[in-house]
Amino acid sequence: MDILQAKEKIERLKREKNAVILAHYYAPPDVQDVADFLGDSLGLSQLAASSEADVIVFGGVHFMAETAAILCPDKTVLSPAPDAGCSLADSIDAARLAAWKARHPDGIVVSYVNTTAEVKALTDWCCTSANAVKVVESLPESRPVLFGPDKHLGSHIMQVTGRKMELWDGVCTVHDEISSMMIHEALKRWPDADILIHPEATCSDDKELIGNERVVFASTAGMLKHAAASPKKTFVIATEADTMHQLEKENPGKVFVPVSPGIYCREMKKVSLENIIESLETGKGKVVLDENIRTKALLPIRRMMEIK
Ligand code: 13P
Ligand code: SF4
Repeated sequence: MDILQAKEKIERLKREKNAVILAHYYAPPDVQDVADFLGDSLGLSQLAASSEADVIVFGGVHFMAETAAILCPDKTVLSPAPDAGCSLADSIDAARLAAWKARHPDGIVVSYVNTTAEVKALTDWCCTSANAVKVVESLPESRPVLFGPDKHLGSHIMQVTGRKMELWDGVCTVHDEISSMMIHEALKRWPDADILIHPEATCSDDKELIGNERVVFASTAGMLKHAAASPKKTFVIATEADTMHQLEKENPGKVFVPVSPGIYCREMKKVSLENIIESLETGKGKVVLDENIRTKALLPIRRMMEIK
């Protein structure tokens, strides 16, 4: 089946099933092109919650489909590549989080949305890269904050807010490759460009970069917003390389340069037109959650969605 036939088949199946396709900006470009809605982690949670479709096909890694299923108990949520994992979600589980909480009984747990439903169920607040700083700023100063699982995002928040937190030792193996040295070199090599950095990157706690007016730390959707609004012509992109697909589509005439070629999330690339068709045809990859876990996980997600 060629791409055109695959797209036509997906359109037909979507109509038959009253389905929508949500996709993250890190999904392969052909998947982005068939999606009804594209977004970053926060935007996709909001889109899932407001969708009127019966079926949501989630073009992203498994924790994203699970988050949609937590928010939408009356819908069928399909994860076309259910084995698409995430190094952050894999770095913490409910037992280890419970042990961490026991060591800090007064602590408020803030979990990045890149976690399993079981971890969210033991969490007070979820956050995404788009609202992590605001979530932490909203918490009472008198209580310790246990922030996990992304230590680079946690360190970035500590630098920006001045608030000390306990950090879990997890990383996104994709953004962990983006070092301070890479960014300092990019600043010299592209003197007229803004540098857009995802706060999961290793360089995110570099004070010099945080204070540099040409450096913008942003979620994926935040990067798109900045590129559209900025009078600059050139942008260096320090995140997953397929983000460039939408940046280029939405900003003809502007130039986007990857900080390093080859920064790809292989897990996101497990989603394909073929497995989207298979999921729509057979229901493969349906997310099934324990109702007790789901209701407990819903509260921190709802709190996260109230802070934009
Ligand atoms: P955002 O969607 O918040 O930009 O996070 C990126 C990411 O790594 C998702 O897994
Ligand atoms: Fe997880 Fe990083 Fe891939 Fe996002 S880019 S899904 S955080 S491994």
